[in-house]
Amino acid sequence: MEFQHLIESRRSVRKYADKEVPRELVEEIIKAAQEAPSWKNQQTSKYYCVLSKEKREAVRTSCFPSFNEQRSINAALIVTAFEKDNVGFDDNGQPINELGNGWGCYDLGMQNMLFLLKAKELGLDTLVMGIRDADKLRAALDIPADEEIGAVLALGYADEEPKRPRRREIDDIAKFY
Ligand SMILES: Cc1cc2nc3c(=O)[nH]c(=O)nc-3n(C[C@H](O)[C@H](O)[C@H](O)COP(=O)(O)O)c2cc1C
Repeated sequence: MEFQHLIESRRSVRKYADKEVPRELVEEIIKAAQEAPSWKNQQTSKYYCVLSKEKREAVRTSCFPSFNEQRSINAALIVTAFEKDNVGFDDNGQPINELGNGWGCYDLGMQNMLFLLKAKELGLDTLVMGIRDADKLRAALDIPADEEIGAVLALGYADEEPKRPRRREIDDIAKFY
C-alpha cells in the first residue's frame, strides 16, 4: 500500500468482525514495530498479547470501562508497556531531564504507531485504548511491577468504516522560523 494512502486510511475502529487474528500476524506486526527508533536503542517496550477467546473476554469485561469493553468485542487485545525508570535515566537512577519516564512512554508510542500502520498494511484495523484499569491488567496478565502499562491496542478485522475525524489546520500546530 502506498505510504500516504496507508496513513490516511488508518482509522480507529470500534466494531470488529468475529474472526480470529492469527498469532503469526501479531508477531509480524510486532517485528515491524520494533524497527522504530528508541532511546540508546534500549527497546524497553513490551507487548502482552491476549489472543484466546476466553482470556480476551476475561480481560475485556474486567479491565475496561463499558464503552471500551463494547468497542473491542472480537478483537485481539495487545497490552503495551515499558520498563520503568530505565529510558531517560542515568546510571545512578536519576532522570536525565524533566521528562523522566516520559521518554519510555515516548519510545512505546513510536513503536505503537508502527504497530498500527503495519496492522493496516496487513488488512487489520486497530483501536488505541488509553482508558483501561492498569491494576487489573497487571493482575490478569502478571505484568511485572517494574513496568508501566500504556495503552491497550485492539487488533482485528473491521466491521465498520469510520469517517476521518477532522484534523487541525497546519497553522494551529506548527510554527516556522
Ligand atoms: C493515547 C490514545 C488513547 C486513546 N484512548 C481511546 C479510548 O480509550 N477509547 C476510544 O474509543 N478511543 C481512544 N483513542 C482513539 C482516539 O479517539 C482517535 O485516535 C481520535 O479520535 C482520532 O481518530 P482516528 O484514530 O480515526 O484518526 C485513543 C487514542 C490515543 C492516541
